[in-house]
Amino acid sequence: MTDLDKFLEKINNNIKIEPKDWMPDGYRKHLQRQMSQHAHSEVIGMQPEGNWITRAPSLRAKVILLAKVQDEAGHGQYLYSAAETLGKSRAVYIEELQSRKAKYSSIFNYPTLNWADMGAVGWLVDGAAIVNQVSLQKTSYGPYARAMVKICKEESFHQRQGYEIISKMALGSPEQKEMAQDAMNRFWWPSIMMFGPHDQDSARSGDAMKWGIKIESNDDLRQKFIDKTVAQAELIGLTIPDKDLKWNEETKHYDFGAMDWDEFWSVVNGDGPCNDDRINHHIKAHEEGRWVREAANAYAEKNN
Ligand code: 3HC
Repeated sequence: MTDLDKFLEKINNNIKIEPKDWMPDGYRKHLQRQMSQHAHSEVIGMQPEGNWITRAPSLRAKVILLAKVQDEAGHGQYLYSAAETLGKSRAVYIEELQSRKAKYSSIFNYPTLNWADMGAVGWLVDGAAIVNQVSLQKTSYGPYARAMVKICKEESFHQRQGYEIISKMALGSPEQKEMAQDAMNRFWWPSIMMFGPHDQDSARSGDAMKWGIKIESNDDLRQKFIDKTVAQAELIGLTIPDKDLKWNEETKHYDFGAMDWDEFWSVVNGDGPCNDDRINHHIKAHEEGRWVREAANAYAEKNN
């Protein structure tokens, strides 16, 4: 049996691929790309919510949001560490992000304008991320799958804290309800596009499915998210901004309207409302933290 045969036999028998195992270059490169972009998304995703920590409406709300943003930093660290097992350093991944060679989730290039957005982000963005990440717990690469197990446990708290925020507002004063509906209107479509292009338009899904990196397709995961979120919106009296959204008794799923892929690709390719802010802020924070990294490395060298 060739190395490739042995590799594919492991994939087909759901045996995890570990860092020291032989793997095709394409598999390694695919994972380096996806895992580092996943890590970038976690870290950049701290910015839209971090903006509201000092403006939280109560100490309880502040502490919860602080804990959530801190979790995201941790998720980024797990994922960078897992991505480094593929033979590429964190410094290189960070350079790819800062030079805009690498992507991160488009959703984080939208602004968070008020406290209702903290609810919409936790509820919809983390809710979508959970659907994707629960599926990724079964991904074929061992370190990635194991990172997902820990991350998913914390993401469910993130989704619940978001839903609590937006529920309180949706069921609050008329002004609060209006803010909650406005946040829903702005975050709904970008959230469902987090799952990526339609399967037939997905450049990466073929390899991802063949190598067991992706267990469920973009469209299947998107449908799963929509089906579970409609009831949550109805429960708090919010309207999903999609005139074509309709329960299909035959398929037992919601039919929904066309997504704006021009907007999606414009944001992915750097022309979203906040792309420049997000990268410039990351570069500034990374530079300000340089002395900490250098001190930690000096200490480690001296004491190892
Ligand atoms: N934002 C930015 N880029 C996206 C995207 C999105 N929402 N959806 C797809 N893309 C990019 C892909 O990266 C790929 O570009 P590339 O080849 O240059 O990397 C291209 O569009 C084609 O898309 P494909 O569907 O063919 O690519 P993938 O097979 O990689 O699927 C994905 C895209 C579903 C995002 C997949 O990469 C994935 O599952 N990634 C892991 C999960 C992840 O990164 N989630 C991001 C959010 S994490 C998060 O939200 C944090 C939470 O705490 C809130």
